Amino acid sequence: MEHLSSTLSLPNGTVLKNRLAKSAMSENLSDATHAPTQTLIRAYERWAAGGAGLLITGNVMIDAKAIGEPQNVVVENKKDFALLQAWAATVKDTGTHLWPQLNHPGRQAIGVINKDTVAPSAVALKITGGNSLFQMPRALTEPEIYDLIEKFGNTAAILQAAGFTGVQIHAAHGYLISQFLSPITNQRKDQWGGSLANRAKFVVAVYRKIRERVGNDFPIGIKINSADFQRGGFTEEESLEVIKILSAEAIDLIEISGGTYERAAMMGASKKKSTVAREAYFIDYIEKARQITQTPLMLTGGFRTVSVMENAIAMGKLDVVGMARPYAIYPNIARDILTGKVKEITTPVITTGIKMLDKMRSVDLIWYELQIKRIGEGKMPDFKMSALRALAHISWLSFRKAFRKN
Ligand SMILES: Cc1cc2nc3c(=O)[nH]c(=O)nc-3n(C[C@H](O)[C@H](O)[C@H](O)COP(=O)(O)O)c2cc1C
Repeated sequence: MEHLSSTLSLPNGTVLKNRLAKSAMSENLSDATHAPTQTLIRAYERWAAGGAGLLITGNVMIDAKAIGEPQNVVVENKKDFALLQAWAATVKDTGTHLWPQLNHPGRQAIGVINKDTVAPSAVALKITGGNSLFQMPRALTEPEIYDLIEKFGNTAAILQAAGFTGVQIHAAHGYLISQFLSPITNQRKDQWGGSLANRAKFVVAVYRKIRERVGNDFPIGIKINSADFQRGGFTEEESLEVIKILSAEAIDLIEISGGTYERAAMMGASKKKSTVAREAYFIDYIEKARQITQTPLMLTGGFRTVSVMENAIAMGKLDVVGMARPYAIYPNIARDILTGKVKEITTPVITTGIKMLDKMRSVDLIWYELQIKRIGEGKMPDFKMSALRALAHISWLSFRKAFRKN
């Protein structure tokens, strides 16, 4: 595992101890006030001991008025600072980096848990059978756009002060930043919409604001879609252009993914036969990205065979191997890979038979979240957990949150 165990220097001089990263997984483990819980912190204690070079947290919300899931952590002030410090301290003396992922869901905010849904434009989400879960968003005003940019910077600064070692901007998967990039969801006629340069203004402004607040020594990464995989949406060519723009801004690490709630490509929901053969869903794209940027690239989605990961790094196609689901059931997976104990990983795909839920891969996602909860409780994974149990869990959390909202 010569290549996977080698160090990586990021543009600002930060060094990752190896090439394995836990990609973001929404843990859904905050308390009712959206503060981190001890279960969440203990899950990170176990991951920190598990050998990865980089742990990216599940998406942390920058605005309490817009949350993706009922128990997302929200950081917009210092009310939970001691807990954030305890969370950041989980990687102390391990040499592992811990970067919170910063997010705003935009129109992908479940209706029952949010009073007001905002997006670049008033374009409703279209999920067969699932439209009732999301409300019609209203278009952000310009002052609101500037306020959200400030909020991203503010959250990053608080997390830096708490001791986290970097941050990642979530610009993928159809959430707010990704909505600004897509011509389907961004139909604005002002400086934030229209040409790609205009649609990319929001992500650049968010990056610059964070950089201004955290300084040059603090690593900032981004997760971006290779494409939305929708007719008329954000294309591969546009994504490559955005990578050029962000590279010129000296961003430290670009993670490649793809898809939205309407097309869950990030979870392998629509992979082609050729992609199955090559394992990693977005490998063809990253090879193109490699040609146009020197910025370190991380690829996430589908990696399961250690020799495929090692070869991808050896051939210089990418710099960091990102995985999500394997870490939810095997907290020591990075160490087991690096010591040669594990050569291949199997991760179940959980389905319900309910088309809309399976298309969004939502129950699959909750099943893995519940496995993360078990990690935080010091338990072993429960491979026998049913899809129904996962469905009942998210329904209960949403109901309780909706009750508190009103
Ligand atoms: C339980 C769960 C929660 C997720 N939450 C996030 C998230 O908060 N932010 C994000 O960028 N991706 C999230 N993802 C997507 C993963 O980061 C990753 O892109 C996807 O699972 C594909 O990687 P894998 O095949 O290694 O699982 C989540 C995935 C799972 C399974």
